[in-house]
Amino acid sequence: MLFSIMSGRRIHSVLVGLLCLVIASTICCSSSVGTSSILCLESERHVLLRFKQGLVDESNALASWKSEKDCCKWRGIACNNQTGHVITLNLCIFCDDYMYAATPLIGEIDPSLLELRHLNHLDLSFNDFGGMIPKFIGSLSQLKELKLAQANFSGSVPPQLGNLSNLHTLDLSWNEFLSSENIEWLSHLSSLRYLNMSGVDLSKVVNWPQSLSKLTSLIELQLSWCHLPDVNLRSLSFINSSTSLQVLDLSQNSLINSSIFHWIANVSNNFVHIQLSDNDLQGPIPAHVFTSMVSLGSLDLSGNLLEGGMTKAFQNLCSLESLVLASNQFSENIQDSLETLSCAEDTLESLDLSGNWFWGSFPELTGFSKLRELRLHDNTLNGSIPESVGQLSCLEHLDLFGNSLNAVITEAHLLNLSSFKHLDVSNNTALSINLSSDWNPPFQLDTLGMSSCKVGPAFPKWIQTQRNLTRLSLDNASISDSLPSNFWDLFSDLEELDLSRNKIRGKLPDLPSFPPGLITLYLSNNMFSGSLSSLCATQAPQLNFLDLSENLLSGELPNCWMSFQLLDILYLGKNKLSGKLPSSLGNLEAISVLGLHSNNFSGELPSLKNCTRLTILDLGNNNLSGKIPSWINQNLKYLRALRLRSNMFNGIIPFSMCGLTTIHVLDLSQNNISGALPYCFNNILALADDATYDIMNVELVWKGIEIEFGENLQFLRSIDISSNYLVGEIPQSITSMSKLNSLNLSRNNLTGKVPENFGNLKKLESLDLSRNQISGRIPTSFSSLNFLEVLDVSHNHLSGEIPLGTQLQTFNASAYMGNLGLCGPPLTPNCSGDGTTQVDDNKEHDNDGLINLGFFISTVLGFITGFWVVCGSLVLKSSWRYAYFKFLDDSRDWVYVKAVVYKAKMQERLRR
Ligand SMILES: *[C@@H]1O[C@H](CO)[C@@H](O)[C@H](O)[C@H]1NC(C)=O
Ligand SMILES: *[C@@H]1O[C@H](CO)[C@@H](O)[C@H](O)[C@H]1NC(C)=O
Ligand SMILES: *[C@@H]1O[C@H](CO)[C@@H](O)[C@H](O)[C@H]1NC(C)=O
Ligand SMILES: *[C@@H]1O[C@H](CO)[C@@H](O)[C@H](O)[C@H]1NC(C)=O
Ligand SMILES: *[C@@H]1O[C@H](CO)[C@@H](O)[C@H](O)[C@H]1NC(C)=O
Ligand SMILES: *[C@@H]1O[C@H](CO)[C@@H](O)[C@H](O)[C@H]1NC(C)=O
Ligand SMILES: *[C@@H]1O[C@H](CO)[C@@H](O)[C@H](O)[C@H]1NC(C)=O
Ligand SMILES: *[C@@H]1O[C@H](CO)[C@@H](O)[C@H](O)[C@H]1NC(C)=O
Repeated sequence: MLFSIMSGRRIHSVLVGLLCLVIASTICCSSSVGTSSILCLESERHVLLRFKQGLVDESNALASWKSEKDCCKWRGIACNNQTGHVITLNLCIFCDDYMYAATPLIGEIDPSLLELRHLNHLDLSFNDFGGMIPKFIGSLSQLKELKLAQANFSGSVPPQLGNLSNLHTLDLSWNEFLSSENIEWLSHLSSLRYLNMSGVDLSKVVNWPQSLSKLTSLIELQLSWCHLPDVNLRSLSFINSSTSLQVLDLSQNSLINSSIFHWIANVSNNFVHIQLSDNDLQGPIPAHVFTSMVSLGSLDLSGNLLEGGMTKAFQNLCSLESLVLASNQFSENIQDSLETLSCAEDTLESLDLSGNWFWGSFPELTGFSKLRELRLHDNTLNGSIPESVGQLSCLEHLDLFGNSLNAVITEAHLLNLSSFKHLDVSNNTALSINLSSDWNPPFQLDTLGMSSCKVGPAFPKWIQTQRNLTRLSLDNASISDSLPSNFWDLFSDLEELDLSRNKIRGKLPDLPSFPPGLITLYLSNNMFSGSLSSLCATQAPQLNFLDLSENLLSGELPNCWMSFQLLDILYLGKNKLSGKLPSSLGNLEAISVLGLHSNNFSGELPSLKNCTRLTILDLGNNNLSGKIPSWINQNLKYLRALRLRSNMFNGIIPFSMCGLTTIHVLDLSQNNISGALPYCFNNILALADDATYDIMNVELVWKGIEIEFGENLQFLRSIDISSNYLVGEIPQSITSMSKLNSLNLSRNNLTGKVPENFGNLKKLESLDLSRNQISGRIPTSFSSLNFLEVLDVSHNHLSGEIPLGTQLQTFNASAYMGNLGLCGPPLTPNCSGDGTTQVDDNKEHDNDGLINLGFFISTVLGFITGFWVVCGSLVLKSSWRYAYFKFLDDSRDWVYVKAVVYKAKMQERLRR
C-alpha cells in the first residue's frame, strides 16, 4: 500500500503527496494510477481463503482464488478502491454466466466471514449451503445488499437479520424449507427498498399486512409462493403509513378475501406493477380501489375466482400498458369492458382477458393504437370479427381460440398487420378462412393456429410463404391434400407441428430433412403411408413428442432410436407396422409414454429396462410373444398403465409383478398366460395415488354404438387378466386391494372358492369372474359391494343362495346363470327345495352381451381413463411432467415442485 502511494507521488506535487501520507491513504488514491494499486488486506484474504476451504467447488468456479494474488481481483470480490477492504462478496456463479454445467458451490458459511466488517454486498444465491441461515450474518452491520436466493437454506429466518439497518436489498427467495413464523424483525429494516421472500413459508404470519406497512422505504416487494394466509382487512383501520411501494407481487398464495385490494390501495399510491395472480380471490373487484393509482402500468389478477365485470375504477388507469385478467370468472359484455379502459387507449400494449366468460361480439379496438398483444381466447365471444382489426398496425399477437366466433377471416382482417407474428383462431364454432391461395401476406408469422377451422381441402399456398413458422397447428382443418414435397425445407424453423385429424395422403415428406429444432410432431389420424425406415437419417435431437398413430404406416420399425435421446412420448399405435420391435427402443431413456398398440408387431420384447421413466406402456393388440419380462416391475418405478392385452404372451405372471405398486391400469387379457395368480397381488396398486380427475365427453364405441360418458368420471383402478389360462384359486390377498374399481378374471380356469371377505373391495364397480371353474357359495360379504354396477359370475360352479342384499338382486339373472347350484333371486328357482336349478338357455344370448359390457367397461374404459385421465395431464403438459419427475427424483418438498411448475408455467406463458 505504502509503495503504491509512493509511486503515485511521481505524478503529483510533493505537497499533495505529503498531505496524503499525513491524513490517510484514502484521500489521494482517486487520482493515483488506479485501483490496481490497491491490494486487498492480508487478514481479509485469509478470511476468504478459509471461507473457500469450507466449500466444495466442483466446477472450479473460484479458480482465481489463490493465495498469492491480490484478492480484490478474485472472482466475485470487490474492494473499496481507497481502503482496500472487501466490500463485495458475490458467489452467485449462475448470475454472471448462465453456465448450466457449472455445479453450485456446496458447503458452509465460515463464521470468520464476520471479519469482513466492511462488506456491503453479500450474494450467495444459487448455491447449496444446506442448513440454517447463520445468525451471525445479522452482525455484518454494513450490509446494504444481502442475497441468499435459492441457496438451499432451511429452517427459520434468524430475526438477527433485523439488525442490518443499512440493508436496502434483501433476497431470500426460493429456499426450500425456509420459513418465518413472525416477520417482526423485518420492520426494523427501515432502509429496505427491495424485498424478495418468494417461496419462503410465511403461512403462520397472520399480521403480514400490518408488518409490511411499516417498511416505508420499500419499492419492490416480492412474496409469491409464500402460503400467505388469507386476511380479512375490512375490519382493520389502517395506520396511514403510505409507502413508496411501486412493485408488488403476491402471486401464488392462498388469498381469498378481496379486501386485500383495500390494503393495497392503502399502502401506496405509487404502484407501477401489481401482481396478485394465482390466488383464490373471490367476488367482484371492489370499486374505487384503483382510482388513485394513476401510475399503474401493469396489473395481473389472473388465475383467481374473480367475477363480475371490469370495475369502473379502471377508468383512471391512464398509464396502463398491460392488463391480465385471464382465468377468472369475469362475465361481461366485452364491449363494455373495453369502454372502462378508454383512458388507457394510448398506452395499452397488452390485454389478456382469456379464460373467462366475456361475451358479446368481437369488440371495436381501433382506438387502442399501441396494442401489440390481444388474448381473448377461451371466452364465449360470438358473431363476426370486424375488419378494423386489420388496422391495428402494432398488433403482433392475437389469440381468439376457443370462442364461438362465427366468422370468415378474409385478407381485410389482416391487411395492415405488418408486425403480426402470432395468430391462433383454433376451436371456434364456425370459423372459416377465406384467404386466396396466392395471397402474399404482409407479415411473417412465427405461430399459426387454425385447428378445427375450415382451412382445406388444399394445403394453402399462403401458409407456404410463412417461412419463419415455429408453431403450426392445423389439426382437424379439413385438409385432404398431400403435403408439398419440400415441406420440411419450407418450414425449417418448425418446433411444433400439428396436422392431426385431417386426411393428408402420401408418404411422409422426406423425413431426412426434419427441421433440426423440431420438438413435437403430431401427424396422427391421417392417411400417411409408407415405412419409417428413413427416420434414421433424420437429425431431430430435440424431438420430444412423436405421434404418428392412426395412419397407414407399414413395414418394420427402424433400429435407430438411440438418436432420439429426448423423446418422451412415442405413439405409433393403430398403423400396419410389423416385425420385431428393435432393440434400440431400449435406449429411449427419456421415454415416458410408449404406445405401439394395434399394429402387427411380433416376436419378443426388447429390454426396456433402461426406460425407467415409463409411465404408460401400451403394446396391446399385436402378435407379441414370449414371457412377461421381469424388468417391467424391477426398473419401471413410475409405471401407471401396462397394457399387453391381446397378444401371445405366455408363461406365468411373474412374482415380480407385485412390485407394480403405483400402477393404475394393468391389462394382460387375451394372452396365453398360465399358472396361478401370485399371492402378493395385494401389493399392486398399493401406492397408486388417490388423486381424482375430471373428464368430459369420453366417447367410446361398443358394438357399433357410441356411448358418451358426459359426466365427470372418477378415475378407475383396473386389473384385467381375462381370457388367459390361469389356474388355481383367487388368492385371499386380493381382497386387500381396497382401491380397486374394476376386476376382470373371466374366461380362465380358476378354481376354488371366492375369498370370503371379497366384500372388502368396497370401491369395486365392475366385477367379472365368469367362465371359470369357481365353486362354493357367493360370500355374504358381496352384499357390501355398494358401488358394484356390473357383475358377472356366470358359468362357474357356484352353488347355494345368492346373498340377499340390495345390490345383488338388482342384476339381471344372466349375471348368475350357468352355475348349476345357484339359487334365489334374481334367479327364478327358489332355494327352498333341494336347491338345484335349471339353466335358462334362452338367456344365453343376453348373457354374452352383459359379459362383454362388463368386459368392455372394465377394460376399455379402465384403460382409457387410466391412460388419459390420470396420466393425461402429465402427458400433455410435458413441461409440468418434467417438474413432476424432478420432484420424484429429488424427493424435494412441494414448495420446490410448485416453484418449478410455476417457472414452467411462466415459461409457457412467456412463449405464448
Ligand atoms: C472508486 O469507487 C467508487 C465507488 O465505488 C467509484 O465511484 C470510483 O469511480 C472508484 N474510483 C476508481 C478510480 O476506480
Ligand atoms: C440441501 O440441504 C440439505 C440439508 O439441509 C441436504 O440434505 C441436501 O442434500 C442439500 N441439497 C439439496 C440439493 O437439496
Ligand atoms: C440483534 O438482534 C437480536 C435479535 O433481534 C437482538 O437480541 C440483539 O440485541 C441485536 N444485536 C445488535 C448488536 O443489535
Ligand atoms: C427477487 O426480487 C427482486 C426484486 O425485488 C428481484 O430483483 C430479484 O431478481 C428476485 N430474485 C429472484 C431470485 O428471482
Ligand atoms: C382445441 O380443442 C381441443 C379439444 O378440446 C383441445 O385439446 C385443444 O387444446 C384446443 N386447442 C386450442 C388451441 O385451444
Ligand atoms: C424471420 O425472422 C427473423 C427475425 O426474427 C428475420 O430477420 C427474418 O427476416 C425472418 N425471415 C423471413 C423469411 O421473413
Ligand atoms: C442400460 O444401461 C446400461 C448402463 O448405461 C448399459 O450398460 C446397458 O447396456 C443398457 N441396457 C440396454 C438394454 O440398453
Ligand atoms: C380349462 O381346463 C380344461 C381342462 O382342465 C381345458 O380343457 C380347457 O381348455 C381349459 N380352459 C381354459 C380357458 O384354460
